[in-house]
Amino acid sequence: MSLLFEAFTTFRETLAAATLAGEPEPTAMTLASADAQGKVSARVVLLKELDGRGFVFYTNCESNKGQQLREHAQCALAFLWKALDKQVQVNVEGLAEAVTHCEADAYFASRPRLSQIGAWASKQSQTLESREQLMERVRQFEQRFEGQDVPRPPHWSGFRIVPTMIEFWRGREFRLHDRLRYELCEGEWRKRALFP
Ligand SMILES: Cc1cc2nc3c(=O)[nH]c(=O)nc-3n(C[C@H](O)[C@H](O)[C@H](O)COP(=O)(O)O)c2cc1C
Repeated sequence: MSLLFEAFTTFRETLAAATLAGEPEPTAMTLASADAQGKVSARVVLLKELDGRGFVFYTNCESNKGQQLREHAQCALAFLWKALDKQVQVNVEGLAEAVTHCEADAYFASRPRLSQIGAWASKQSQTLESREQLMERVRQFEQRFEGQDVPRPPHWSGFRIVPTMIEFWRGREFRLHDRLRYELCEGEWRKRALFP
């Protein structure tokens, strides 16, 4: 079994255990990204898929994060699962790539209609003059797509974070926590433990 496959398997098993343990938002992950000048931002997004290549989430590509990831693909994710017997943090570093149009279309089509309308109505990360401005845009797009399927907006899609590092942190007594780091070094995955 390759080390990356081992890390993905551990991730899936731990996510499943956290979900079973009642973690309120088990797929929530903090995404840190930076612009070309190195200015860093962080926010929470939801993991929608983990395939054999990386961690996928969906967003407005013209948002602050969308612009940053296009300018500067290096980024990081952090998950925190507190409901487990021993709380777990997973840290990921990697490179963001756009998902294919087919993947984005398939995920967009699975969303509730009002979320689809919201994706058209929200100019994510831009100045909003009033709540009414947003609701007016919702009404406009409801009218525009009345009686038909809502197509995916051209500015709405997903990113796949292809990891170069995945670390599992498990809480232990007296702050003597376990840390296990998988990292890509000169084209090869390596595994090592770190001091807590
Ligand atoms: C639990 C939770 C889940 C969220 N999931 C997403 C998501 O999957 N995609 C997204 O674009 N924003 C999501 N958001 C909103 C983002 O945190 C953020 O406010 C928004 O994307 C704008 O970020 P930006 O201005 O840095 O681009 C979520 C917020 C929370 C609290």
